[in-house]
Amino acid sequence: MKIAITGGRGQLGRTLETTLHTRHQIIGLDLPETDVTQRDAIDALAHLAPDLVIHAAAMTDVDGCARNPDAAFRANALGTQNVALACQRAGAPMLYISTNEVFDGTKNAPYRELDEPRAINPYGASKLAGERYVQMLLDRFYIVRIAWLYSPGNANTFPSKILAAAKQNDGLTVVDDEIGNPTYAPDLARAIAELIETNHFGIYHLVGEGIASRYDWAARILQLAGRGHIPITRSKLADYPRASTPPRYGALANFAAATTLGIKLRPWQDALEEYFTSHR
Ligand SMILES: NC(=O)c1ccc[n+]([C@@H]2O[C@H](COP(=O)([O-])OP(=O)(O)OC[C@H]3O[C@@H](n4cnc5c(N)ncnc54)[C@H](OP(=O)(O)O)[C@@H]3O)[C@@H](O)[C@H]2O)c1
Repeated sequence: MKIAITGGRGQLGRTLETTLHTRHQIIGLDLPETDVTQRDAIDALAHLAPDLVIHAAAMTDVDGCARNPDAAFRANALGTQNVALACQRAGAPMLYISTNEVFDGTKNAPYRELDEPRAINPYGASKLAGERYVQMLLDRFYIVRIAWLYSPGNANTFPSKILAAAKQNDGLTVVDDEIGNPTYAPDLARAIAELIETNHFGIYHLVGEGIASRYDWAARILQLAGRGHIPITRSKLADYPRASTPPRYGALANFAAATTLGIKLRPWQDALEEYFTSHR
């Protein structure tokens, strides 16, 4: 297939290209050449005549989105409308990457695909608006919600930040009341590679199997890095006022892809081990 990937130079875009390029022709698109918020991006994208568009571009700075909700909606909602219109024009299906932050985190159990979304911050609301444009404008789409992504060689991920903090401090303080699914980008890319072969369109939650608090994740990172002796103090989200409010219990359950298609990611602990053994 000829696959166009928006956000092609982002964390997920790069990982997808690495995984998909052996079987598919990949066209990576990103700022500054392709700005999905611009109307001319619709023509440019349609002109490529892709067989599939993976829309991974987004304003991903959640606190930045909270400080500037208009910018968040421009990029994440209206940008997604443009990409969906380009798919409509090209007759191509779309795979839209969405987020666990479309949920409010009050369920206290992992969210399934058809649980009612209710975003509680501008990032989540703008990504949810993007989902609605996809559903409104296209017949053939995958909406893939993901969470807590990390990959090798990226300084901006939670594992890299924990390791950097551990080098500079005698102890760390990490929240234990924010729950999610650590998701290893190469595992996610492999699951997406399987999903796009199915034409089984719909909404999917593709995340590392199992749940963790930020505290659990940090503790396992330090252990695997041989720094398990560094003490971690538990804290609460309420101790750190920030511009954006994350869903407290934002974990997702992969019910649809696992049940119908047999597509699932391995347990997050196993993937984290590979992150340390193969790539660092
Ligand atoms: N990372 C996570 O934990 C996580 C969790 C849930 C969902 N997601 C979703 O997963 C997707 C990929 O995330 P990621 O971690 O790969 O993020 P990323 O590294 O920030 O990549 C996003 C890419 O999109 C580009 N971009 C931003 N605005 C654009 C625009 N108007 N037109 C074209 N490109 C634009 C960014 O360029 P600049 O860098 O130049 O701005 C960046 O290269 C996003 O849709 C995100 O919402 C991520």
